[in-house]
Amino acid sequence: MTDKDLEYFRNWFLGFCRTYYLEDRLEQLNIALKEEHSFRVADNATAIATGESISADECLIAEIAALLHDIGRFPQYAKYRTFLDSASENHGQLGAETLTSLSVLSALSQKESELIIDAVRFHNAFLVPERSDPDATRLIKLVRDADKIDIWRVVCDFYECSGERAAAVSLGLPDLPHYSKDVIAAIMDRKVAKLANVKTVTDLKLLHLSWVFDLNYRSSFRLVDKKGSLRRMAGVLPGTDDVFRAVSVVQEYVSEKAV
Ligand SMILES: [Fe+2]
Repeated sequence: MTDKDLEYFRNWFLGFCRTYYLEDRLEQLNIALKEEHSFRVADNATAIATGESISADECLIAEIAALLHDIGRFPQYAKYRTFLDSASENHGQLGAETLTSLSVLSALSQKESELIIDAVRFHNAFLVPERSDPDATRLIKLVRDADKIDIWRVVCDFYECSGERAAAVSLGLPDLPHYSKDVIAAIMDRKVAKLANVKTVTDLKLLHLSWVFDLNYRSSFRLVDKKGSLRRMAGVLPGTDDVFRAVSVVQEYVSEKAV
């Protein structure tokens, strides 16, 4: 595995994205969002891997897996016009199937290819699956962290934007200030909230905040802190006591884990 391989995958992925471009300007915002997100997740993966002193080879695999992690989003949006898995299909699974059917990883060793497909398949699972191979577990966790860190940027950009924006980010939920007590309770308990309890955009913002409890690497917490997205998230939430306490729990947790 070399930097040249990485360059190949970057170019291949750019070409892949182009085949999903849409003429409608507003629809295309959703595709462009996922394309940019993929490259940023790849950058995050490199930053985390470097911070964790992971080997150069593993670092390259992490960057490729991160670049391709949301490949399923493109056929998902083409077919269903949504990023909501429950209204379409699981985009991790769809991504793994897409990679397999396109044979794009054929230049890599079987083990490298399996690791990447596994990370794509499980990057969005509620829990990290049990894996006997520690390399597989490490990679899945790293891609999940890199993904979350950029999703915080994406959603903050979306909520702070008053102009045209990629509407699919809010998953079609009603933009109301109400929130579920279950979502707040999960955060107070230092747990990831359940998507089933998300009924409004405010719930979704809180769910995203709760993702800090699923971060795995110290470098990830440091990167979150450096990027300041959680502080931005706090700024777009309603100013109630519940929310204030929940945000404090999240910030405390990040500070503890970043040390
Ligand atoms: Fe993603």
